[in-house]
Amino acid sequence: MNIVEIINKKKRGEALSYEELEYAFMGYLNKEVASYQMSALLMAICLKGMNDKEITDLTKIFINSGEVLDLSSIEGIKVDKHSTGGIGDKTTLVVAPIVASCGVKIAKMSGRGLGYTGGTIDKLESIEGFKTDLTTTEFLKELQDIGMVIASQTKNLTPLDKEIYALRDVTGTTDSYPLIASSIMSKKIASGADKILIDLKVGSGALISNMNDAEKLANIMKNIGKEFNKETIIVISDMDTPLGRNIGNSLEVIEAIDTLKGNIDNDLGSLCIDLASKLISTAKKISEEEAKEEVLLSIKSGKAYDKFLSFVKYQHGDINSLKVSQDKICIKSEKEGIIKKVDARIIGEVSMNLGAGRKNKEDSIDHTVGIVLNKKIGDKVSKGEELCTLYVNKIKKEFNIREAFVID
Ligand code: URA
Repeated sequence: MNIVEIINKKKRGEALSYEELEYAFMGYLNKEVASYQMSALLMAICLKGMNDKEITDLTKIFINSGEVLDLSSIEGIKVDKHSTGGIGDKTTLVVAPIVASCGVKIAKMSGRGLGYTGGTIDKLESIEGFKTDLTTTEFLKELQDIGMVIASQTKNLTPLDKEIYALRDVTGTTDSYPLIASSIMSKKIASGADKILIDLKVGSGALISNMNDAEKLANIMKNIGKEFNKETIIVISDMDTPLGRNIGNSLEVIEAIDTLKGNIDNDLGSLCIDLASKLISTAKKISEEEAKEEVLLSIKSGKAYDKFLSFVKYQHGDINSLKVSQDKICIKSEKEGIIKKVDARIIGEVSMNLGAGRKNKEDSIDHTVGIVLNKKIGDKVSKGEELCTLYVNKIKKEFNIREAFVID
């Protein structure tokens, strides 16, 4: 086989066989295919697409490049949840304890944030002592003991995806559905759960900005799930505006706790209840309405929050250690009116610039900084009233945050 022929074949829009894909992609992992050749192939895939078989084949190749977690020693249906990333998205911290407190086991490998979107692992590391780096034995034991576990993705899980994702990031090849779908689904399938829920974010603060594209991607991911015998539920949710009020690591954990304690009559609460109900419904084979009743009862009775506390303790975290910066900047409205828009992308970028996120993979982050939105879409605001509060540390700038708010 010849890599240049494979690149040319895709350039002409022809389908590649499993063997050709394996030769090119595994060749790249094994350093037999150069990064400029893989970049050319990725660009050809971006421009010409892939058929369903190619997408499934590529997913298989990603999965087979590393270990696959075997959860079969743990009794019952195991579920997993994944968000394609957004601003203020702390749903995992709420949904996982709810689901586990209702008797459904949830096992999740998570990532760190890059760019303006946050990562669950960074959020959890706002809790002093919290251990995210677990061995497979520790991962399985926690799942067995308390019914939930969230750990950082091990190096051995889909190592090929890791290499390809890094290359896509610097070659303008991130926005390809076949590549996005195989990347996400390979990690989820290799993580071993029986049922997978994907929260697909759409909007200015998300990877996908319009509904048509989201539906296309949703269909591709569902098809992959079917091919691998993993029931896959896709929820398409809004990311034009930040989710909840708090953006930034410690601040998001605090808001997640508040939600688990019963503050649920808001956008974050509604989405968490919906996601948790869907997971419980599919795992227990009950209707979503019945599942929702269980969810609400678990929050009301304090069972969901107790599960969160057990989880934090199990992973050596000190729940009383959460810190937010004491240095604040209040951003006041320059006019009166109704909030028509709070732009997720701008809020995410300001939060990253304050130090809550990473511009580059190697950057360290400040868990204590971030933004609290005092006003959300539909709220009335008067001149001089606070729109949001920046929790700052070393960088004491407002950036362009007022531009995020459209007031009419
Ligand atoms: N998240 C992933 O893991 N992969 C992608 O390609 C996009 C988002």
